[in-house]
Amino acid sequence: ASDMGSDLEKILFTKEQIDARLVEMAAEIDRDYEGKEILLVGVLRGAIMVMADLSRAISTPLEMDWMAVSSYGSGTKSSGVVRILKDLDSDLTDKHVLIVEDIIDSGLTLAWLKSNLSSRGPASVEIATMLRKPEAAKVEVDVKYVGFDIPNEFVIGYGLDYAEKYRNLPFIGTLAPHVYN
Ligand code: PRP
Ligand code: MN
Ligand code: MG
Repeated sequence: ASDMGSDLEKILFTKEQIDARLVEMAAEIDRDYEGKEILLVGVLRGAIMVMADLSRAISTPLEMDWMAVSSYGSGTKSSGVVRILKDLDSDLTDKHVLIVEDIIDSGLTLAWLKSNLSSRGPASVEIATMLRKPEAAKVEVDVKYVGFDIPNEFVIGYGLDYAEKYRNLPFIGTLAPHVYN
């Protein structure tokens, strides 16, 4: 992984902890979707690692598609403005859609995305996220699968970036405040 210098404050979840939690989430998903097929919708770019690892832990037949939206720009604050940068290629009619995310922060991205995808005629729309920050919530989002709830700190690694860096860290850690202050 990249040279972190002193930008990393502390590790929140190791690769082993992430893997173990994903296996539990996948087992829950397999139970819930028994006899069905799933369309996993990964939200670029942060969800790439969760998508890769969660999808491999799921046994239920599935397809994958990707959507690119942006709410953060390059800073550390959620703007509340959601833009579609790349739409899905799939038709959602009668599909069991499971949105895959790295983190739910204010909830603005997912609230918007869930209602947008729900309007396209799917059989169901649920959300799976690796992380959630309950203290940062600005809107209520109904999330079925949550890896870990975390305090309101800036997190990096495992897909999560600060100014597009650190996504490749195999663990999830907090960014030292001196980096963004
Ligand atoms: C981050 C994260 C979620 C969203 C959560 O994405 O990956 O998609 O913000 O924030 P919210 O709950 O406050 O809406 P970002 O917009 O930084 O794009 P990225 O995935 O390309 O890093
Ligand atoms: Mn994202
Ligand atoms: Mg980001």
